[in-house]
Amino acid sequence: MIIRKVGVCGCGLMGSGIAQVCATAGFDVVVLETEQKFLDKGFGGIERSLAKFAEKGNLTEPPEAVRRRIKGTTRAEDLADCDVVIEAIIENILEKKELYERLAGIVKRDAILASNTSSISVTELMTATQRPERFVGLHFFNPVPLMKLVEVVRTIATDPDVYEIAYEFAQKLGKVPVRASDKTGFIVNRLLVPYLLDAIRAYEEGVGSISDIDTSMKLGCGYPMGPFTLLDFVGLDTTYYITHVMFDEFKEPRFASPPLLKRMVLAGWMGRKSGKGFYDYANPEKPLPQDAALRGLTEEKAGVAAD
Ligand code: CAA
Repeated sequence: MIIRKVGVCGCGLMGSGIAQVCATAGFDVVVLETEQKFLDKGFGGIERSLAKFAEKGNLTEPPEAVRRRIKGTTRAEDLADCDVVIEAIIENILEKKELYERLAGIVKRDAILASNTSSISVTELMTATQRPERFVGLHFFNPVPLMKLVEVVRTIATDPDVYEIAYEFAQKLGKVPVRASDKTGFIVNRLLVPYLLDAIRAYEEGVGSISDIDTSMKLGCGYPMGPFTLLDFVGLDTTYYITHVMFDEFKEPRFASPPLLKRMVLAGWMGRKSGKGFYDYANPEKPLPQDAALRGLTEEKAGVAAD
């Protein structure tokens, strides 16, 4: 099977990044969105990212040439001749299933369908595709243009040849694929989510302040970001959603959401994207830790760490 054209459903942070890496690797790409304004926003991000790569000499052709390989559409019918379609829409099982049901009657029979889901059962999504043997998980990481890993997820029904094609496709994108089976959270989130939730619990218990916990994990373990910076980066609503799916699957306390995470999501503090999370991003160059606000205290009463 020769892959020439890739369809991407969703032009948010993940979808636009996936479209960008596919086009950079030389594939023609069609990106499906519900409204033109979402395409415009996603394409703005792609252009800025390509400009950065070009500036550093990390593109083998002009950014405009890569950009020209990506077309946006709001009509699912435009995905009809794609060889691979990667879905990267909102983490909502009903919306994803509805999309696969629509795509089943449009996308050619021998195309491979994939989901970028980070936590929903690939097997359950598969049931809506009408082609279980040609369905895999392709889980990319944020920011997609920079992060090298792709988890390639198989279900009990995935055709082994299709799985190998998907694995090689990830390599052609310049990524490093790993093989994962369809267990909720796959490899990365299985390990990452309890760590992030433990950081919140450590903060709730007064082990250290937000910035001291972040600094500790950065400098003590060599992580590129501390847990709170990463939580804000991933999105607190996304993390909260993942905890529900993982707790539901495993029924283990380590996957349960700490009360503070729930309260922050209820308050609309989603992290970087909403301007507030564990840090306040009013000045994005210098995010301010929110210890005082999160403890429901004034600055003076909050102290540096837990009192
Ligand atoms: N496109 C192109 N270039 C980009 C970019 C983008 N989208 N984003 C950042 N860059 C560039 C920056 O301009 C910068 O370039 P210069 O060095 O020339 O200034 C360079 O990349 C490094 O960026 P920063 O200086 O902003 O910061 P950094 O050195 O910390 O690197 C990072 C950024 C790669 C994101 C790094 O912090 C990192 O690896 N963080 C951890 C990210 C992570 O863990 N992601 C996984 C999240 S979990 C997930 O996605 C799965 C899930 O299911 C929830």
